[in-house]
This record gives sequence, C-alpha cells and structure tokens, in this order.
Amino acid sequence: MQILDGKAAAQAIKNELKIEVAQMSIEGKKKPHLAAILVGKNGASETYVARKVKACEEVGFKSTLIRFEEDIYKIRVLEEIEKLNNDPDVDGILVQLPLPKHISNEEVINAIDPDKDVDGFHPITAGKMMQGAATFVPATPCGIMLLLDHFKIQTDGKHAVVIGRSNIVGRPMSILLSNNSNPGNCTVTICHSHTKNLNEICRQADIIVAALGKPETITAEMVKEGAVVIDVGITRITDASKKSGFRLIGDVHYETVAPKCSWITPVPGGVGPMTIAALLKNTFLSCKMKN
Ligand code: GUN
Repeated sequence: MQILDGKAAAQAIKNELKIEVAQMSIEGKKKPHLAAILVGKNGASETYVARKVKACEEVGFKSTLIRFEEDIYKIRVLEEIEKLNNDPDVDGILVQLPLPKHISNEEVINAIDPDKDVDGFHPITAGKMMQGAATFVPATPCGIMLLLDHFKIQTDGKHAVVIGRSNIVGRPMSILLSNNSNPGNCTVTICHSHTKNLNEICRQADIIVAALGKPETITAEMVKEGAVVIDVGITRITDASKKSGFRLIGDVHYETVAPKCSWITPVPGGVGPMTIAALLKNTFLSCKMKN
C-alpha cells in the first residue's frame, strides 16, 4: 500500500506557483488576488478560509477576507460580490459554503462574475466543464485529478465509483473521471444515499472516491484488493488527547481499508491540501487570462 500524499503534491504545486508569481513580479505584473467572503461563525468554514488565506500568502498572492455576521441581509452580500466583480485588481472570488439558511447559495453563486468564479460553481462555469471546455474546475475534484496525475495513477479504462452526488464534489468528479483525458477515461458509477447494493458496487471499483460525508462508512469488505481509494471526508471528532480537543477522520475506515489498497489518501493530508492547491491554480489562471 502506498500513500497518496496530498501534502507533498500540494507543496510541489505551490512551489511552482511561487516561482511563477515571482517571475510576474519581475515583469512588473500585478499579483494574483483572491477575495473570500465568509458569513457567520461556522468552525469548519473558519478553518478552511483561514487555510486558503494562508496559502495565498505562502505563494505570494494577495488575498482579501470579507466577513459578515450570521444575520447579514442577502442584499449586502450581493452588493459586496458586485463590488468585487467590478474591481479590476480581484482575480478570484469565493463565497465559503454553507451560507446561513436565509441566504440562497444559488443566488449568491450566480452573482459571481464567471470570469472570477475560481470555485467553479457558477452555472456557466459548470456548463463549460460539462462540455470539456477550458474553465475553472471546482477545487476538490480538480485537486483529486491533480493528485492522480502527480502520482501517475493509471485511470484509462478503470472502473471508478464515486460515492456522493453533491455539486461541489460528486457530480463534477464523475464528469472529470469520465472525460477523454489523462487522468480520466474511466467508466464511472455514481452512488448516493438511495443506491442499492452499495457494497457490491464498491467491490467492483478500481478507484473509489468517497464523498458521502459520513465518517468511516467505507469498510474493508467494500473494497477490492489493489483498489485506489480517495477519501474526501473530513469530520471533526472529540479527542481529549489532542491540543485542539478534536481529530479529523474521513469517510473511509482507514485502518482496515488501507492494507487492501494499492494507493490511499490519508485524512488529514490527502485531499484537503490538494483542494487548496487547486484553488490557487484557478486564481493564478484567472489572473494570467486577464493580464
Ligand atoms: N464548502 C465546502 N467546500 C467548499 C469549497 O470548495 N468552496 C467553497 N466556497 N465552499 C465550500
């Protein structure tokens, strides 16, 4: 069993970006600039956004964090997006999800200029991806494709089983894995909470992408010998032995599944860092396209 080390792969991408940003600066060009909007005080969202901002600093990007209270009016968020859309210095806009219940995700996402939609959630961006056109690909599935590429995982003709059908991970993942590309060219089965015989389908998988959001659900009897397992899950569980008071676990029962795999992502240190690297890549691409 070998580890798909997302931390190392993400570092390699960040090192490349750092060099390219330094080169842009020598040429007198502006820095890539990511603007993030965070509404409310969701602990996990706070952590993710802080990591995104820190990663921007690491590679020499500019970042702006705009915070709103939980009870902010939707119109204020929309006004802020409009401002960022019209700001020529801003290359990428992301609104951290989930939003409070009184604000529609859809309305907010649709307000982002597709040319700055580095999260790849706008319907125009998602439509382009469906067509296989060059566009911003959502960060988590994009990061997973970069990870497969980094470790030269063979995907051509393989059976990939994606568990989860969210717009953020499962659906775009299924499209990317079935693209006529490398990595890609898989036969893809997409499973979800209403799938019958999930165990049996998983046992037929050469590649499993677990993005169901239920901790340690994928167990050894669901995985065939030699499979590649990608774990998108990150759930915080209380752990008094940790300084933070919690530890992170994935959707895969790592201890029992790992010995059966050819490759597996750890949690943490697998998909998480790759998601951030992919977001940086999208922001860089946006900046380069505009300048
Ligand atoms: N919430 C969970 N994943 C994501 C992501 O990739 N982008 C944003 N904006 N919010 C998220």
